[in-house]
Amino acid sequence: MKYSISSAAPANLSSDCLVVPVLDRDTLTASGKVLDQACQRSLSKVLRSGDLGESVGATLLLRDIDGIKAKRVLLLNCGEAQKLDGKNYRKALKSLVKELPTLSIASAHFLLTDLEVGERDGKWLVSQTVEQIEDGLYSYDHTKSKKAHKPGLKRVGISLPDGISRATANDAVRLGEAISAGINTARELGNLPGNICTPTYLAEQCRKLATSYTGIKTQVLSEKQMQRLGMGSLLSVSAGSAEEAKLIIMQYRGSGKANSKPHVLVGKGVTFDTGGISLKPGAAMDEMKFDMCGAASVVGTMHSVARLKLPINVVAIIPSAENMPGSRATKPGDVVTSMSGKTIEILNTDAEGRLILCDALTYAERFKPRSVIDIATLTGSAVATFGNVVSALLANDQELAEELLDCGQQSLDPAWQLPLWDEYQPLLDSNFADIANIGGPRAGAITAACFLSRFTRKFKWAHLDIAGSAWNSGKEKGATGRPVGLLVNYLSRQRA
Ligand code: BES
Ligand code: MN
Ligand code: ZN
Repeated sequence: MKYSISSAAPANLSSDCLVVPVLDRDTLTASGKVLDQACQRSLSKVLRSGDLGESVGATLLLRDIDGIKAKRVLLLNCGEAQKLDGKNYRKALKSLVKELPTLSIASAHFLLTDLEVGERDGKWLVSQTVEQIEDGLYSYDHTKSKKAHKPGLKRVGISLPDGISRATANDAVRLGEAISAGINTARELGNLPGNICTPTYLAEQCRKLATSYTGIKTQVLSEKQMQRLGMGSLLSVSAGSAEEAKLIIMQYRGSGKANSKPHVLVGKGVTFDTGGISLKPGAAMDEMKFDMCGAASVVGTMHSVARLKLPINVVAIIPSAENMPGSRATKPGDVVTSMSGKTIEILNTDAEGRLILCDALTYAERFKPRSVIDIATLTGSAVATFGNVVSALLANDQELAEELLDCGQQSLDPAWQLPLWDEYQPLLDSNFADIANIGGPRAGAITAACFLSRFTRKFKWAHLDIAGSAWNSGKEKGATGRPVGLLVNYLSRQRA
């Protein structure tokens, strides 16, 4: 998509379609009023007729209005002015971008940026607009014989918001494009089936990203190399699978300073989770191809970071494995030794995410990280608690937790904190090893984080359980690309 920022008079814009926001069902914004005047109040007359639907996101298409150069005007209901916040703005945009492909237009101009949207500034409005358009452009066709046809819309104009410069608005476009590129990378990897997106495939994609962006270097460790490092916990997960596990390390160097400590992201990359010997029930098991969405979000975030050329260093660590039953598979009761030296009694082979993450977290120590964030589709408990609305956040550092919560609000990719309290730790006691890999049926998202916390004593760490937020089920089944938005927002705030 080609984006341009424009401050031309709305009536003179020669576009196939002008998108004009409406508040309180009948009120135009300043630019809408100027447009209305240019066409002898045609717009306000239509609005008085009451034809614009009631819900946020409802649209009404008008054609060939005298006095307006653009071929069409699409009125967009943005709800009540009083209630117009970031979420409602996004809601209106989402329904708009679903509608645009039904029109035969090559260009559109959005007169949306003089809306007053809660606390959001002009820069946010522009980048959010771009993000929603790019989100609407994504469609999955990798494993379909008929490829999705290219959208007719090629050019989008956005009005320059009040109070920011053209350069700032252009930066906002680039930010929106970079975030979207990362989100769509994450969605695509997430949506690929388990027979294509194996640990080896994931590693290849990371290598490819490193060839497209000079700032990124990728390294991939084999099972043999992991054995030498003592990663007995990670390797226990892939033991039953014919697919070789990989540890993928991507290093992005954007800081000019020689020894700037990196921010580390660790993503769970279970390319398919059958549960192993503790086999999962059959219903909806196909969705366990999404069990690498943590890894996908880390790859997507690296994509955005490299595109934005952020002035910091970031290390991505992706432990990737397939969790299968088989004659060599790990059995309940087996005890393994992690890279940290701690022994783990595997009471349930379906609690495999933490087993690959703990060795990756120990590996993270060597980078002397400024902060470590792991992202994982870790527990059904997080789904039961939060559904698909927020990601669960747990951390050993409250300042980091609060910053991430704020990033979630800013990016409309929210997280909510759960307590990582010592009272939960004894649930992981084992009679046969230093620690058990499950904490019983209660407080599952918390005990999973407690397990990880045993391996994160040496750095500031936060854990995002995205089991509910990483993909949608049902008719709209597919990866969401979350929490790339949150993570890019966080990394954009950091300084070398
Ligand atoms: N990948 C699953 C978590 C999951 C389940 C995500 C359902 C999304 C939807 C994870 O590996 C898992 O199986 N967790 C178990 C842990 C339990 C055995 C302690 C769970 O949450 O049921
Ligand atoms: Mn599992
Ligand atoms: Zn899993």
